[in-house]
Amino acid sequence: MGEPIPGLTPAQTTLFFEGQLAFAQPLTIGEGVGPIFNEVSCASCHNIPAIGGFSTRRVTRFGVAAAGGNDFDPLESLGGTLLQDQSLDLNCRELVPVEADVTAQRGTPHVFGAGLLEAIPDADIITNAALQDPSVQGMVSMVLPLEGGAAKPARFGWKGGIATVHSFSIDAALNEMGLTTPFLQQENAPNGDLAALAACDTVSDPEDAPDGAGFLRVDRFTHFQRYLAPPPQTPKSGMTGEALFAAVGCADCHTPSYTTGTVAEAALSNQVVRPYSDFLLHDMGALGDQIVEGNASESVMMTRALWGLAQRGALLHDGRATGANFGGLIDQAVAEHGGQAAASRAAYQALSAANRDLVVDFLLSLGRAEFDFDLDNAITEFDWFFLEPLLTGPAPIQVVTPDDPGAICDVDQDGDFDLVEFGKMQRVWTGQ
Ligand code: HEC
Ligand code: HEC
Repeated sequence: MGEPIPGLTPAQTTLFFEGQLAFAQPLTIGEGVGPIFNEVSCASCHNIPAIGGFSTRRVTRFGVAAAGGNDFDPLESLGGTLLQDQSLDLNCRELVPVEADVTAQRGTPHVFGAGLLEAIPDADIITNAALQDPSVQGMVSMVLPLEGGAAKPARFGWKGGIATVHSFSIDAALNEMGLTTPFLQQENAPNGDLAALAACDTVSDPEDAPDGAGFLRVDRFTHFQRYLAPPPQTPKSGMTGEALFAAVGCADCHTPSYTTGTVAEAALSNQVVRPYSDFLLHDMGALGDQIVEGNASESVMMTRALWGLAQRGALLHDGRATGANFGGLIDQAVAEHGGQAAASRAAYQALSAANRDLVVDFLLSLGRAEFDFDLDNAITEFDWFFLEPLLTGPAPIQVVTPDDPGAICDVDQDGDFDLVEFGKMQRVWTGQ
């Protein structure tokens, strides 16, 4: 995770690495951070297990719950719904206003493979909704890209608020860092106080201006995210747990795979991707965060893509699912699935313990690279410790099914660990 997509042109690879620098570089005051903000770089929040990843950083949303015939109030005039919890000047602090009676925490997802998600044909997401059984049927979240163009089905955000990588860059630049751009030129005022903003804002807007090569910072952020490789999945297919995952209805919403359309970059075009999401809005009952955002009402959330899951800690939008081990995390995450996911939750909980373990083993394959036994996103001597017995075992060639631990070495998935894999492993080992 964190590497560029294989097959980029040299020019795109250069944009990837230049974009990675921009994504990780702390913005200075002169460059436009603040006056109110959450962090000073994209990578302050997106950094586990590599730049572009997730983190334990959460942000706060607030508002006033619907009551007495009034709808949910996002408290826009008081700076809602997103809190900027840091400021350059103490006179410009934003706090959750006393009027708010709803607050929600939202955790940081990773952005690996974001360009591939963007390249999924709109029609495929629309078809997902058309094919779903009424009991789990989701809703397409059509949104206008901030950079212009026609409305598209969203693929990003816990509540499906954003459709393109460029839009997310523009949105996060302003709302997480305080960087105004030609697309969003107005700074956030602390709790809506324009006088306080005027007193604290020392840099004229828009702050983001083209660099020597003619790119805005938000273009640079976009290049990096668009060219980021998707999380690995190992074994790639055939695990019994994946069949059980489908049988209990998880795959009704967590749609396994897509083929991307034809886009400007060959490396992103016509690729099979396995994000495990339908990118639709679902009523999740008590799991909803009670915030109304765009097309998503209080109890509605967008199906979270599960690729990369094995590398994550606390799960769900507010990190409410915690556990001593991965199996415990999954059990808790499923237990919190309500609303349209209630039947699937019950079916999962009715599985035998052995079958639940198989589902968990499958979910552990999402975010695991070949040979990475200890799941630390690196191939080191600790992985060799697990590999060696496979090589020196009783039979000269080790037969492996996708459910065997050794299957994570069966790169060509032909059911054994042999010289083909050994050769590949040597190349990984020696950095080739
Ligand atoms: C203060 C922490 C923080 C900073 C700084 C930050 N992000 Fe995020 N990022 C988040 C959180 C939290 C979410 C989930 C937001 C939501 O859905 O409410 C998110 C979501 C995203 C997503 C959508 C991922 C998905 O699959 O839903 C993208 C893309 C993204 N951020 C890009 C960026 C970029 C680009 C920057 C820098 C301009 C940035 N972020 C800065 C915390 C942060
Ligand atoms: C009705 C649609 C639906 C069904 C069915 C469903 N999910 Fe989900 N799933 C979601 C949504 C929506 C989220 C995001 C919830 C949130 O706001 O935290 C989610 C989140 C998750 C997460 C947390 C991911 C993360 O990164 O935090 C896991 C794990 C998960 N689902 C596993 C499952 C499993 C296993 C099943 C089957 C037992 C299942 N889901 C069935 C819609 C569904």
